[in-house]
Amino acid sequence: MLSRHTLISLVILQLWTNWIASALAQQTFFPSAVPLAVRTPTSNCWLDTRNGSNPMTTWPTFWNDQHILGWAGYIKVDGLTYHWLGSPVPGNASTWIETQVTPTQTILTVQAGPMQLNVTFLSPIEPSDWGRQSFPFSYVYLDGTATDGKPHSVQLYSDISGEWVTNSFSTGIQWSTTKTSNTVFHQVGSTTPTSVFEDVAEDSVAYHAISSVSDACSISNASPSYNIVKGHPNLVSIVGTDQALRAQFATLGEGFTLTSDLAGQIGNVQGSDGKFPVLAHAMDLGNTTTITSIAWAVGVVRDPILTFSGGAAKGILLVAVCYHWRRNAFMVDFPTARTRALALDQKILQDARAISQNYADLVSLGARQAMAGVEITLSTFQNGSFDFSDVKAFMKDVGNSQRVNPVEVIYAALPAYMYLEPNITGALLEPLLEYQNSSSYTNPFAAPDLGGPFPAVPGDPTNLNAVYGIENSGNMLILVLAHARSTGDGSLIGKYYNLLKQWADYLVSNALIPGNQYSADARDGILVQSHANVTNLALKGIIGIQAMAEVSQIMGKGADAQNYTASATSLMQSWVGLASQSGRLRWMYDESTFGLMYNLLADKLLQLNLVPASIYTAESATLSSNQVQAQFGFSLSSDNASAARSDWTLFSAAAAPDNTTRDLLIAPVRNHASSNLTVGTFPTLYDVQTGLTQAAPNTFASPAQGAMFSVLALNVANQTIVVPGNLTTGGASAGSGGSKAKSHTGAIVGGVIAGIAALLLIGVVVIFLRRRARKEPSANDEFEAPTPTPYQYPMAQQSDGATFGSTNPGPSFLPDSPSSQPSRTFGSSVPSNKTTLISQNRFPPGPLSATSSQPASSHEPPSSGRRSSISRGTDELRSEMERLRQEVQELRANQDAPPGYQ
Ligand SMILES: *[C@@H]1O[C@H](CO)[C@@H](O)[C@H](O)[C@H]1NC(C)=O
Ligand SMILES: *[C@@H]1O[C@H](CO)[C@@H](O)[C@H](O)[C@H]1NC(C)=O
Ligand SMILES: *[C@@H]1O[C@H](CO)[C@@H](O)[C@H](O)[C@H]1NC(C)=O
Ligand SMILES: *[C@@H]1O[C@H](CO)[C@@H](O)[C@H](O)[C@H]1NC(C)=O
Ligand SMILES: *[C@@H]1O[C@H](CO)[C@@H](O)[C@H](O)[C@H]1NC(C)=O
Ligand SMILES: *[C@@H]1O[C@H](CO)[C@@H](O)[C@H](O)[C@H]1NC(C)=O
Ligand SMILES: *[C@@H]1O[C@H](CO)[C@@H](O)[C@H](O)[C@H]1NC(C)=O
Ligand SMILES: *[C@@H]1O[C@H](CO)[C@@H](O)[C@H](O)[C@H]1NC(C)=O
Repeated sequence: MLSRHTLISLVILQLWTNWIASALAQQTFFPSAVPLAVRTPTSNCWLDTRNGSNPMTTWPTFWNDQHILGWAGYIKVDGLTYHWLGSPVPGNASTWIETQVTPTQTILTVQAGPMQLNVTFLSPIEPSDWGRQSFPFSYVYLDGTATDGKPHSVQLYSDISGEWVTNSFSTGIQWSTTKTSNTVFHQVGSTTPTSVFEDVAEDSVAYHAISSVSDACSISNASPSYNIVKGHPNLVSIVGTDQALRAQFATLGEGFTLTSDLAGQIGNVQGSDGKFPVLAHAMDLGNTTTITSIAWAVGVVRDPILTFSGGAAKGILLVAVCYHWRRNAFMVDFPTARTRALALDQKILQDARAISQNYADLVSLGARQAMAGVEITLSTFQNGSFDFSDVKAFMKDVGNSQRVNPVEVIYAALPAYMYLEPNITGALLEPLLEYQNSSSYTNPFAAPDLGGPFPAVPGDPTNLNAVYGIENSGNMLILVLAHARSTGDGSLIGKYYNLLKQWADYLVSNALIPGNQYSADARDGILVQSHANVTNLALKGIIGIQAMAEVSQIMGKGADAQNYTASATSLMQSWVGLASQSGRLRWMYDESTFGLMYNLLADKLLQLNLVPASIYTAESATLSSNQVQAQFGFSLSSDNASAARSDWTLFSAAAAPDNTTRDLLIAPVRNHASSNLTVGTFPTLYDVQTGLTQAAPNTFASPAQGAMFSVLALNVANQTIVVPGNLTTGGASAGSGGSKAKSHTGAIVGGVIAGIAALLLIGVVVIFLRRRARKEPSANDEFEAPTPTPYQYPMAQQSDGATFGSTNPGPSFLPDSPSSQPSRTFGSSVPSNKTTLISQNRFPPGPLSATSSQPASSHEPPSSGRRSSISRGTDELRSEMERLRQEVQELRANQDAPPGYQ
């Protein structure tokens, strides 16, 4: 018999649970994996949510959905231990209630005994603040309520393992712990770092941080007995083995201390005793009814990002430095970062829901991975000071090849950058243009990328990519104009006019009759390569020519503009004849084929009005009459009836002339994104019937999902384009290789200065400079560019000519692995060759940090900082950076060994 007291408690618990449940929005979106900490290609952690009904028993993984990233989260309530992340022992799994995904956050609502928790994984997107955008860190924070309304004794715990910095359990790792006035952080890195890696960066340092000043205990009027606590109560930050620390946490009572079983600061990812060293932060909240935004930060830092020499002819090797990560700045920034993230989420969701909730779901899932494909870099002068005029961005072809700045992926992601931060497009284009403007690049058409595999950037001077000449030249011209239109920044046009003109001329000669040229889709193996005259490819080329006409106009070259307009118009007329057949569009000239004419979006995004309205209507009619819609949408083309591409489907949706067609295309892509039966971290390529993904390339976590923003990008306003005065007189000549303009007022710099100044103003002045970066490069230097083995692009297999209705097998789609839990054993080989990129002091023994004396000033609104900073000149900023650097050097000289912190 239950006692009366117990019964009443149960009834109250039930009422609370119902009330809370009704307060929650009903979950309707069920991705098979959700982003947890997704900021860069290598700081990229996901949770596979296919595991039966409770994702709270699954270890987080790297984006490849294979490699476990050890990350355990516990809450202990009245002495009972539950985990809210990972699958650690001891302890019970908390009960999963639901998952919400917003553009910047993934929120897992779980029940742990009487406490209901919102576990929020926040990966900020910081448009317009490139300093913050380049932090490779994410937050996880807990909010909780006792569902019985009573106080409970609560302790919290989180740890990460060395799996964050290597693929292999046997890799040697070293770690340390640093306490500043406002943050405690652990760091761990390999003892044998190498910049040759496939996915998990073997030259990275992972951080696990917590604020030592509590933002958690905000004063609540509802609670009469509040405390203002400075510092998390009984914060314990310690490195020990998983088995020792987790067991101690589960068994020790209130006011606990944890004891390490590790001597020293070196070990293996997994010791010979089977134990994993883990870096933990734990705390005791005492008796409480609520948990208010207790936050940790995690992230993976690589520095330098890569080395890039614009063109071999220049002979200058720039060391690109991730200049902005500040380990305690990130933690101190949490309250304002969250406020900004919520505001951004709200804006994006409001815009996207005006299309549909389906569409809002796709945008929410795609936003973080679109931004995380890109890293922003700043180079240094030979004396080590930063070159603020040289801001670049580098994209890794995550989930696909390992190419750097793959042009067709930048094209796919363009809508996200146009909507979120159009200057990113320019920073991605700059190194591509710089490289192709050098004398080492001699092709008359544009290159597909900067080479690879990431992070090596050898360039790709070979002639192998002639088969993609129309594809890449068209993409580049479209991207350059899109960047100028959406930012108003004409500097790329001014600098590279002649190069762009050369590509446009190539298109004038080649675009209409592509012959045996391929579109980039051939890389995925979903186009039949023997097919000639692909309509959609010709369309891209012709749109590229009209884009050049606009570029010429912007440059004040009226004759060129007229010439290109005349060419584009006449080629378009011919194309209409070749592509259409009784009110339908063909995928290839002369054949009864069909496919998604996704390049129509470029005409719309650039507002060229080159393509006649009748073509849009014909495309709509073709879709509804010819393409068979399966559960997960339309196949890309009749070349392969089973292969669907989410990115190009969304391009087509945004280009559709009517809302019915638009929504018809969006709905099944959303169906797939919300199908939790098949493996995949939001892949772009999947089987249209089964939803299964291809074995390789699997397209997991591809930045190409920036295409989800296609409909929103249509509303991005035109800016008045200004070409800097010194560039309007001619531009750099193609092949001259030396006329790199050093504009200190360039477009991108504005954003960077804003970012830097905002950070300076919040009073956080940690400068991390590598001695290495200050060294003067010389021929025998460690910066010598590695000579990589030639990188083979994945080429699709030749297929003998599938036509309409054929049974061309195409790519093989893999069924799920029978065990949905990734195995913890590793068969994969770790690349072992060292490259000259590695510095001796890859992993400095001590932390290089300074701390703000006034952390409170971090609450100053960042916008005020930005405004005042832009008026300051770059020179002033540079001297400020120099001063800071001196301060840091002094600090470093005075700094004792890192405090062992408990
Ligand atoms: C998987 O999706 C179904 C709906 O299709 C949903 O009921 C279930 O809760 C989902 N599971 C997870 C772990 O998200
Ligand atoms: C958890 O999130 C839901 C949905 O946003 C919200 O209604 C609820 O109040 C949150 N709970 C806590 C404890 O913050
Ligand atoms: C929490 O409450 C329990 C039971 O009422 C009590 O034994 C314990 O001392 C309290 N702890 C604190 C830190 O107040
Ligand atoms: C199409 O959808 C957009 C956005 O949802 C809306 O503004 C517009 O009015 C719709 N057009 C028609 C013709 O319904
Ligand atoms: C127009 O462009 C073509 C190449 O596309 C070139 O051969 C021709 O000279 C140009 N005409 C003028 C007047 O610039
Ligand atoms: C491409 O189309 C043109 C024009 O119709 C035709 O002359 C040519 O033979 C086609 N090329 C191939 C390889 O089929
Ligand atoms: C944007 O600029 C282009 C070129 O100047 C122009 O054709 C187009 O009409 C403009 N669009 C809007 C909405 O102002
Ligand atoms: C982007 O570049 C433009 C042109 O230089 C500049 O005016 C603008 O402030 C930049 N935008 C952001 C958000 O940094």
